[in-house]
Amino acid sequence: MGSDAPEKARLIIVDDEPVILNLLRSVFDGEAYSVLAFPDGRSALEAMESGGVDVLLTDKNLPDIGGLELLRHAKRIQADAEGIIITGYASLDTVLAAMQLDAFDYIVKPPKDIFDVRRKVRQAFEKVRMGRENRRLMAEIKERNGELERALSELRELQSELIQSEKLAGIGVLAAGIAHEISSPLFGVMGLAEAIAEESDADLMHGYANEIVEYATNIKEIVVQLSGYSRDAGREYHGEVELQQVVDDAVRLVVLSLAIPLSTVRVVCEGSPRVAARGSELQQVFVNLVKNAVEAVLEHHADPESGAQGLVEVRVDVVGRYARARVIDNGPGIPAEQQSTIFDPFYTTKPPGRGTGLGLNIVYRILTKYRGTVQVESTLDEGTTFEVRLPKIEPLSDES
Ligand SMILES: Nc1ncnc2c1ncn2[C@@H]1O[C@H](COP(=O)(O)OP(=O)(O)OP(=O)(O)O)[C@@H](O)[C@H]1O
Ligand SMILES: [Mg+2]
Repeated sequence: MGSDAPEKARLIIVDDEPVILNLLRSVFDGEAYSVLAFPDGRSALEAMESGGVDVLLTDKNLPDIGGLELLRHAKRIQADAEGIIITGYASLDTVLAAMQLDAFDYIVKPPKDIFDVRRKVRQAFEKVRMGRENRRLMAEIKERNGELERALSELRELQSELIQSEKLAGIGVLAAGIAHEISSPLFGVMGLAEAIAEESDADLMHGYANEIVEYATNIKEIVVQLSGYSRDAGREYHGEVELQQVVDDAVRLVVLSLAIPLSTVRVVCEGSPRVAARGSELQQVFVNLVKNAVEAVLEHHADPESGAQGLVEVRVDVVGRYARARVIDNGPGIPAEQQSTIFDPFYTTKPPGRGTGLGLNIVYRILTKYRGTVQVESTLDEGTTFEVRLPKIEPLSDES
């Protein structure tokens, strides 16, 4: 037998009466476990010490070491070993002592039904087997639990790293967004400052200076608003603005910062809806949309030979409960498959240095904050319309 073969379970039988010992041994012929029979306690103990024991079937009264004593040794050698005590008479004392030793069962001698002995031994083996199987499962569960705990803590670590990098990415977007948004008013300030330098009319100079103060205030507000994004200023804001005024200001700023003629952009208004929003933020929305439109038509109609003229129009009106503003251009249009991506941060089709891809993302974020929407409709080679809607403030009725 190879030493690496799985060891067979062991039944140790001990009885000093040879007839009974033989009888018992014969009952277990052909069982799956190895059966060792001993006429006395000492030799049984030796065998257990050297080769282990799973089930001990022993006479209680042996000339040398008693059956209960043997059982104690068996449990010392193999903690989950089971013992069945054979006793000449089932005295209460014997049964109690056997129970104290955690004996599995007892048999009264002479055994009336030899198959009953075999059944009891089989049950004892089954108990040993199940106990071991349970412990194996418990160990496996423990091991799996350990693995799960390790995986969980790894996940937690990964998650906190992700949150950290997400935060860093957020800071990157924020910084880029601030740079993006202050560039238009900053160019406005520079343009006006240059105008002042070349102006001699004191009144005009005064007017430019006032505008510079206004744009500088815008810049300050943009920085404050953008850095306070998470605080959701939209909900706590109770002011209101006239949409047309905001659009006019935005167009002026774009014209100033891109140094293009004012006539490039036309503003058409039907009605003068008011909306609940911070003017400087809403102005950012239209600066971005109008700037995109102007850039699109300038690019598209760059070739003077073509004869076509670039047109940008902003139409303000009211639909139902909404104030609506449409920024319309006859530029190159946006391919259908890109129309959902253009609002993603950093998505741009412009060459490096010309666009950061933040404009529309800022538009989207500001409008969402004020419960507004932005939608795009575009046909290639015909043009693009961005439609902005914001809940309109109803004018107070006379009675109230
Ligand atoms: N009116 C338009 N016509 C055609 N394409 C447009 C128009 N508006 C936006 N797009 C497309 O959407 C992209 C994203 O616009 P967005 O304003 O977010 O970034 P950008 O204009 O590329 O860069 P930035 O605004 O940072 O200067 C543009 O690069 C362009 O491809
Ligand atoms: Mg843009």
